[in-house]
Amino acid sequence: MANDALTVDDIPVDGSNPPGGLISVWTLNRPEKLNALNKDSHTAIKEQCSRAESDPNVRCIVIRGAPPPPAEEGKRQKPAAFAAGADISEFSGKNSDDVRPFFEDNAWEAVWSLSKPTIAMVDGFALGGGTELALSCDIRIASERSKFGQPEINLGLIPGGGGTQRLCRLIGYGKAMEMVLTGDMIDAEEALKIGLANKVVSPEDLEDSTMAIASSIACKSPYTIKVAKRAVRASLELPFSEGVLTERSEFVALFDTEDKEIGVQAFLDRKEAEWVGN
Ligand code: COA
Repeated sequence: MANDALTVDDIPVDGSNPPGGLISVWTLNRPEKLNALNKDSHTAIKEQCSRAESDPNVRCIVIRGAPPPPAEEGKRQKPAAFAAGADISEFSGKNSDDVRPFFEDNAWEAVWSLSKPTIAMVDGFALGGGTELALSCDIRIASERSKFGQPEINLGLIPGGGGTQRLCRLIGYGKAMEMVLTGDMIDAEEALKIGLANKVVSPEDLEDSTMAIASSIACKSPYTIKVAKRAVRASLELPFSEGVLTERSEFVALFDTEDKEIGVQAFLDRKEAEWVGN
């Protein structure tokens, strides 16, 4: 079950086939701490990953941060955040033995390991573990006021949630090195330019834009979507020539599925495909 650090909403998808498709929206729910990821956040995300993986109705997952609460009397308004990193207060006084078990079983890898598509909906700060959580997702949609960064260097640390590896593969060696070594933040426009964000929209349009992409994915054959994700993911793990062979074998195997026949026939009949999911 989700704890207070994460709110979960399963949104029905109009027109999904097989019927009953859901977009599972996970909201990091510590806005007073800019949704910094503490132990509870990790536990809840890992639990939701297991649930989403085993629930055939969950077709796509969206991860977002809760918006900031209204300013308390006499205090300034807290900024919007996807997640401003790992919860730094949990680092104080800890040695390597203390933190190793936690980092060996973390939410970043749980999200990355999902076979279903994931979208990070980023509004505001995505720093450190926040950028890493967005990187663990397949797609990142950001609002214009978002800022990304890997500021761990300023704490005498480096990214520990896969940031050095996933960032490098996504935006390339030079830009990843610059972000990790300087700890400087980049804005949404820069994130879009270097491929860290797939799309940048106004804060008002962020939810609709993200849900439109999630719905588009959720209306495809859930079986074929998993194969597609696995094939693209193989490009990160395999040498090029092996990756091409892997793709070919996945592609050919799809000719034994019902959904390939359904999709092809629907095109020929100029109808919407009604997927069965195998
Ligand atoms: N861990 C724990 N608490 C955090 C946090 C984090 N990563 N990031 C922000 N917070 C908390 C602050 O301590 C503050 O709590 P308080 O109001 O109880 O004092 C609250 O969130 C608001 O943050 P604040 O720093 O006051 O907001 P700001 O607008 O002045 O600055 C940031 C925003 C994002 C620039 C700043 O919070 C920041 O640099 N955060 C840490 C980023 C980081 O280094 N992340 C990597 C961690 S490995």
